[in-house]
Formats: sequence, C-alpha cells, structure tokens
Amino acid sequence: MNNIPDWNLLWQQARKKKSWKAKKKKDWDARASTFAKRNADSNFAKLFIAKLQPKPHWSVLDMGCGPGTLAIPLAKQVKTLTAIDFSQAMLDQMGHHQQKAGITNIRPVRASWLDDWQQLSIKPHDICIAARSLAVDDLRGALQKLCSWSRHKVIIADRVGAGPFDAELFAALGRPFDPGPDFIYTVNILFQMGIQPKIDYLEFDQQRLFASREDAVQGCSWMIDTIQPAEASALARYVDQRLTSNKDGSVTFQRSTPVKWAFISWDV
Ligand SMILES: C[S@@+](CC[C@H](N)C(=O)[O-])C[C@H]1O[C@@H](n2cnc3c(N)ncnc32)[C@H](O)[C@@H]1O
Repeated sequence: MNNIPDWNLLWQQARKKKSWKAKKKKDWDARASTFAKRNADSNFAKLFIAKLQPKPHWSVLDMGCGPGTLAIPLAKQVKTLTAIDFSQAMLDQMGHHQQKAGITNIRPVRASWLDDWQQLSIKPHDICIAARSLAVDDLRGALQKLCSWSRHKVIIADRVGAGPFDAELFAALGRPFDPGPDFIYTVNILFQMGIQPKIDYLEFDQQRLFASREDAVQGCSWMIDTIQPAEASALARYVDQRLTSNKDGSVTFQRSTPVKWAFISWDV
C-alpha cells in the first residue's frame, strides 16, 4: 500500500479553503498600480537581492515579474533579464520604471505559467526566479517548468504562514482567516521531485511609513476582498490603534508580526 501523500493534490485541496479568492488576470491588471506603489518602499526587493547575490554574467528569467519589483533593480546587476507576467498592466508598470531608469536589458513577455514558452521564443536562462508568484493550481508543473528553463539555479519566494496578510486585521473585521497552503507544501513537492532545496527566510515591513492616515487605511485594505461598509469602520479603527504620528505629518503603522516569506533555492 502506498501511504505517501501526493503533496500537489494536498496543495490543491488546501487552496480551496483559503480566505480570499484566487486572482485572475483581470484582478492583477486592476491591482497593478496600487501593487507597484505598495512595493516601492517595501524592503522585499532589497532583502531578496542581497540573498541572491547576482552575478554580472547571468541571464535571468523572472516569472510573474509584476511591476518589476525585482526585475528593475536586478537588471542593473546582471547581463540580461526576461520578465514574464500574464498581466499587461503589470508589464506596463515595469515598462514605465524601466524607461525612467534607462534600463535596456529587460525583455518583457506577456505570458502565463501554462503558455507554451518555447513558442514564445523563451530560451533557457542561467537563473530562474519566481517571487511571490506561485499561486497556481498545478504547483508541481510550475516548479518543473522553472527547472526546465534554468541552466544553473532556481530561486523562489514563497509565503510562510500568513505571509503578507495580517491575521489580526481579519479578526478585527470578524472575518475567518485561512491563509491557504504555504511553503511547506512547496518544499514537500520539491522533495518528491528529488530536490532538497536550501531554505532561508525574509522578514520585513513590520513597520511602514505612510504620508497620511488615509494612505495607511488604503495600505491595509488590499488584504480584504470587497470590503462591506460596516467593515470599513472596523478597518479604520484597527489601523488607528496601530498608528503613531510623526513630526512631519506622516504616520507610522506597526503590525504585531512582520511579513514573512521563504527564500527557497536549488541547483539544477
Ligand atoms: C504578488 S505579484 C508578485 C510580483 C513580483 N514577482 C514581486 O515579487 O513583487 C504576483 C504576480 O504574478 C502574476 N501572475 C499570477 N498568476 C500568473 C499566471 N498564471 N501567469 C503569469 N503571471 C501570473 C500577477 O500578474 C502578478 O504580477
């Protein structure tokens, strides 16, 4: 009898129980500009790139590149970078930052995990990255794809527990909170693929600076699918309890736990 669980199936089952809806292409399109703004002063890219230690001769494939959170700073430190995302609005955000920074070594590609990358002339790269972009049903398929397109190394950033979500905010709104499957599923799927990855952790953004209280409320509201009017006041109360005012008129928001992601890497 085979008692070994199928971790890809467990991942799919656990995803059905999470407290928010899976986002489609149009949802990411709608979020592109606020996501880009929210990430502009986050420490994620700095911490990720410090662990990555990029080399000037690398070609890098960044899958689910979003507004170029990693692609823009990374492109300055490597030879070439292919930035893939299925959201045109995200690629437009990246294009805007790329132009502003005078970066010319990024090839943007609009494609999804399931598209035929060969048909899109995407060749294998030295390094494949997927940061915070593994919200897919067939996780094993996505990981296999990264392995096939990488010549040397794959690096992913995967959620640890609640990740960027704040469980206390859901409690304050009286909403149930199930963050869905996290990096433990990914590590087990990799293990079943014969891969023993290295795991490190990135913790950041426990404190965030906002220009105003309204911005701080806005900065938290992305976590909640369709906020109801009664919830809006609970959200504002929750934020007020965690705000301190600064002399220059800005405010500092403090959560009780930092945002936490796993930095997972393996050689191919
Ligand atoms: C949370 S954002 C992460 C962006 C960036 N990697 C970062 O760390 O800031 C997730 C990105 O993955 C993209 N994405 C989600 N599902 C995708 C899919 N099936 N195919 C291609 N891109 C996808 C979204 O459009 C979005 O830009």
